[in-house]
Amino acid sequence: MVVAHHRTDSLTAHTARRAAARLEAAGYRIDLLDLHAEGFDPRMNTSDQPDWGNREKAYSDEVHAHMRRVLAADVVVAVFPVYWQSVPAILKGWIDRVWNYGFAYGRSKPRLAGKRMLWLGLAGATADDPVVEGMRAVLETNLSEGIAYYCGFSHSTVGLLTGAEERPQRVDAEGNLLVGEAVTGAEREAQYADLDRRAGEFVERFAAEEPVPA
Ligand SMILES: Cc1cc2nc3c(=O)[nH]c(=O)nc-3n(C[C@H](O)[C@H](O)[C@H](O)COP(=O)(O)O)c2cc1C
Repeated sequence: MVVAHHRTDSLTAHTARRAAARLEAAGYRIDLLDLHAEGFDPRMNTSDQPDWGNREKAYSDEVHAHMRRVLAADVVVAVFPVYWQSVPAILKGWIDRVWNYGFAYGRSKPRLAGKRMLWLGLAGATADDPVVEGMRAVLETNLSEGIAYYCGFSHSTVGLLTGAEERPQRVDAEGNLLVGEAVTGAEREAQYADLDRRAGEFVERFAAEEPVPA
């Protein structure tokens, strides 16, 4: 499980903890990769830049350690806040550096072939915001098609968790960002419970798709 959030008290971190607990209850063992806590540097560098003439290139030790963790996993679950209809820079940089040429792609039989992936993205937009339909489509295209299937994964799905902000936001016809009153008390509890329920559904459906690994 790869978590991309700078605060351990964030809704994203909470959702990751709940998802991990659900997967453990379903029989999975979790290798939790908290990118911020582990100090992952998302910046591309010369050592980890692909060499198109050498798919056996030895990348940095840090990247090889991450590759071993990905290889050891049957499923990869990424939990992140949606930033600009995409993943946060730290998660993008992890994919850029670790899911590298010769490892994740560039072989007739990809090393990640057959693995399964769930992208759990928390979005501030509320479910009824017209922006959500396009966001879901762009995330599915980018993350499932552009990354996971390109790297040989057998299954990839995006679980988009809308309504993750305590202050509902929407953009009006003039382009103004309208920020509503903070949801508090019982209403906030209900909002959290609903987000937990939707996240749980994504995780359980994902977990049930294949037999639980031994
Ligand atoms: C840089 C940035 C970009 C964002 N882009 C989007 C976006 O494209 N769509 C959206 O619905 N929410 C967007 N948001 C809102 C976040 O998705 C939301 O704050 C987050 O999911 C809340 O979870 P957290 O409390 O765990 O951070 C953005 C927030 C930030 C800080």
